[in-house]
Amino acid sequence: MEERLREMAKQARAALEGAANLDELERVRARFLGRSGLLREIQQGIREIAEELRPQVGRLINETRQELESVLERRREKLESLGVHERGEESRIDVTLPGRSQYVAGRHPLLATLDDMLEIFLGLGYTIAEGPEVETYYYGFEALNYPPDHPAMDEQMTFYIEDDVLLRSQTSTVQIRVMESQEPPVRVVVPGRCFRRDTMDATHSHTFYQLEGLCVDEGITFADLKGTLLAFGRGMFGEETQVRFRPDFFPFTEPSAEFAVTCFACAGEGCRICKGTGWMELGGAGMVDPNVLAGVGYDTERYTGFAFGVGVERFAMNRYGIPDMRLLYSGDMRLLRQF
Ligand code: PHE
Repeated sequence: MEERLREMAKQARAALEGAANLDELERVRARFLGRSGLLREIQQGIREIAEELRPQVGRLINETRQELESVLERRREKLESLGVHERGEESRIDVTLPGRSQYVAGRHPLLATLDDMLEIFLGLGYTIAEGPEVETYYYGFEALNYPPDHPAMDEQMTFYIEDDVLLRSQTSTVQIRVMESQEPPVRVVVPGRCFRRDTMDATHSHTFYQLEGLCVDEGITFADLKGTLLAFGRGMFGEETQVRFRPDFFPFTEPSAEFAVTCFACAGEGCRICKGTGWMELGGAGMVDPNVLAGVGYDTERYTGFAFGVGVERFAMNRYGIPDMRLLYSGDMRLLRQF
């Protein structure tokens, strides 16, 4: 037994003194001095030797443990005092490696497009208004002159939170909120997120952006609407741009129109981007229905107004040549790093 003890102590001393770093030292300690280490194993064998020899062997075991522990301590102090380079592989820091580079933040193509749109309207004397994304049925439809169960709501199928609470399907809701809070003249643009029960594909998303415009004052006519959207189109795409209006229907405007601008890529010739039509549809517009003005308490004999709504995604995709709408929401750095 004494022989085994001495042999073990010799190995332990060598291993402790040879430990190259603190992690290795800990492993050596556990193997020899740990709770189920080799020293403990030998100690347990003491029951098998003659009773009169036990005190002597016991003392020897204790001395060995003390000695090994002081070897361990000395080695630990030595390793701790060493520089990082000598402590071993795991804690090594290579100060010559180049640092991790940081991305310089850029504007998301969607919001860059929206910013550029807003810039033009700010130049025309508009201010920016915002409204909640979660709306009541009243602001979402009723105050916008939708009769109950009117089929015009079909294209606005949205997400209901309760019977009366829904995610807005258009920024037109904010028209009402703005008019409720102020008297004419009104000139606001409203950027914001809208929601519809559409299945995601390359050209649809359940969550998307619109830019709404509203102008109410004395003597506002459809000519002002046309002039404003012409200025918008030219601001975005250049002085040669033309606008086109075609009849449409929205419950909150009368008359209503859909409007388009000549394709920025082919100037109206017809190309791949405009699918050969020469035009790019931007959104809906019209003269604010007097029912809507009356609903917010405006004097409909005195005031008239126009409103328009532009989809931002389609616009951004055309502008930057992004083929799939889902890319705009993916957060994929391979796309975003290009802006
Ligand atoms: N809100 C309409 C839509 O989302 C667009 C629109 C806005 C039409 C303002 C007329 C006036 O389809």
